[in-house]
Amino acid sequence: MNLIRDKIEQLAKHYLAEIIALRRKLHTIPELSFEEYQTSDLIALLLEKYGIEFQKGIAKTGVVGLIKGKNPQSKVVALRADMDALQIKELNDVEYKSKHPGKMHACGHDVHIASLLGTAKILQEIRNELNGTVKLIFQPSEEKYPGGAKVMIEEGVLKNPKVDVIFGQHVYPELDAGQVGMKSGKYMASTDEIFLTVKGKGGHGAIPDRNIDPVLIASHIIVALQQIVSRNAKPVMPTVLTFGRIIGDGMTNVIPDEVKIEGIMRTFDEEWRAEMKKRITKMAQTIAESMGGKCEVFIDQGYPYLVNDKKVTENTRNSAKKFLGNENVHNLEMRTTAEDFAYYTQHIPGCFYRLGIRNIKKGINSNLHTATFDVDESSLETGMGLMAWIVYRELLNV
Ligand code: NI
Repeated sequence: MNLIRDKIEQLAKHYLAEIIALRRKLHTIPELSFEEYQTSDLIALLLEKYGIEFQKGIAKTGVVGLIKGKNPQSKVVALRADMDALQIKELNDVEYKSKHPGKMHACGHDVHIASLLGTAKILQEIRNELNGTVKLIFQPSEEKYPGGAKVMIEEGVLKNPKVDVIFGQHVYPELDAGQVGMKSGKYMASTDEIFLTVKGKGGHGAIPDRNIDPVLIASHIIVALQQIVSRNAKPVMPTVLTFGRIIGDGMTNVIPDEVKIEGIMRTFDEEWRAEMKKRITKMAQTIAESMGGKCEVFIDQGYPYLVNDKKVTENTRNSAKKFLGNENVHNLEMRTTAEDFAYYTQHIPGCFYRLGIRNIKKGINSNLHTATFDVDESSLETGMGLMAWIVYRELLNV
């Protein structure tokens, strides 16, 4: 029996209807990366109403709130929710359907914001029981490079007061509502985007000897680059190289002047990541040159890999088990998707865990980034209550 645990659980139940209404409101007003103005205004309005001090306009549309407990200097825990939506036309026929044409909260960031506001309300109510300070980070632009996390860190979000530990949660359609999952150590991949332009000399397809065929060169490059994954990457180092776009706009009998190839690379080690970029560049350039053409290489720097601190994750797992029961806390595997929460974990210890939102009986099981994505809203009760409980316990751990 723990009185604080029970109090947090009751408060989460008590606030659920209000937080569901808030999530629905946010769902109707999705905004793209670094354009989250209405969202930002709504968050500020609510923090003001809850009596929580805050600052607006960090990294353009970011909002940062502060809740001080009884020993505010002893430890500072930060909680992060991302705010941006996607360029997807919503296909759900629900009363809270997106009112912004062509935009949709299809990655659940509306749930993250509403849930964090619920957590804030709970923590504000029990602040005299908190042994430290809680920083609430509402972050813009998770979906788009360079990522709001990077900009917020550059603008000092982890300082003044200095943050000791950070937590983030993300909706997860592979777990039922009421459950959570996490992984200690390396969890999500680094991500970079690759842009190759193969230059040849176009002309009549029937007399290839007079031309330099960039289509054939591009084909060799695409096949050859996979050997970086199969022959150069250590077998224990997960590595992904995918090309999803190739444009060679000639005709059946016309060889084009150039071919564009675009793709991604993902991995879990900074040294190997840098080495991969060198190998891709050298291989693409030398193959093109050996065949008489040229290849221009541009690799756009994305997010680093995300690492969950071992000790913090162990504490989080134990907190989750005490709050939800052992059977509702799952161990997850590494994922080759990416998250800009990774930037925080490069600076300070943190834990990024997953919140179950699936409900197969209700037909709620669409994937993230799809036009039919939705959540079982009972997950908001789990989301806000669990996070408040994790914070309470983490602050006791000085
Ligand atoms: Ni997301």
